[in-house]
Amino acid sequence: MSTLHGRRVLVSAGPTFEDIDPVRFIGNRSSGRMGFAIAEAAIARGAQVTLVAGPVHLSTPSGVQRIDVRSAAQMHEAVMSALPADVYIGTAAVADFTPQHVAGHKLKKVPGQDTLVLELVKTRDILADVAGAETRPRLVVGFAAETCDVETYARGKLAAKRIDMIAANRVGIAGCGFESDDNTLDVLWTDGQRRLGPDNKRAVAEGLLDLIEERMTNA
Ligand code: CTP
Ligand code: CA
Repeated sequence: MSTLHGRRVLVSAGPTFEDIDPVRFIGNRSSGRMGFAIAEAAIARGAQVTLVAGPVHLSTPSGVQRIDVRSAAQMHEAVMSALPADVYIGTAAVADFTPQHVAGHKLKKVPGQDTLVLELVKTRDILADVAGAETRPRLVVGFAAETCDVETYARGKLAAKRIDMIAANRVGIAGCGFESDDNTLDVLWTDGQRRLGPDNKRAVAEGLLDLIEERMTNA
């Protein structure tokens, strides 16, 4: 039987949208497909899956409890409220910065002003907060979207956020990562690493769950 059978798996997926005014926002190109594929694969292994999803155009895998959110702050609240869990997998592309003020009305151009300065403030790090929570999941898994020096940056995040495993995703390379069906992940943990793919997201999700099960058994 799968190690994940009967375990609570919490997954975050998709982008977050940070509102600037009632009609504009700051978003990103995450499709959410990796997180949804992981949720579906975990259900198939008999896990109880909660999926906190940013704004995505995807249908909910059967059996998954889905919580829809929009902003990084809402995702933080939804994820922390969904604890405790046995495993947290943070695939979401959470905005790092959000507008300090959301205008209550549509921002208008001002005659004679050719620039607009938006003040942004840092969002809270959901992954680090899950890893530091009193009810810390047994295994906390992060994702890292990197364009270069993948391993160095990913190892840095593994240590800084005190997580157990990080799946580094090469983005900005044709056919891989955001908005793409195929994926290659470099999965790293303190004393090991494994490359998954290139393959479709479901196959990569299965590979990641295999590694998670191994870590839960051995760690
Ligand atoms: N993450 C998070 N909350 C944030 C920012 C990031 O939970 N406010 C999580 C993501 O879900 C992902 C991991 O942190 O699992 C790494 O995200 P990434 O953007 O690669 O790293 P950052 O720590 O945000 O650093 P940077 O963007 O500067 O590379
Ligand atoms: Ca980031």
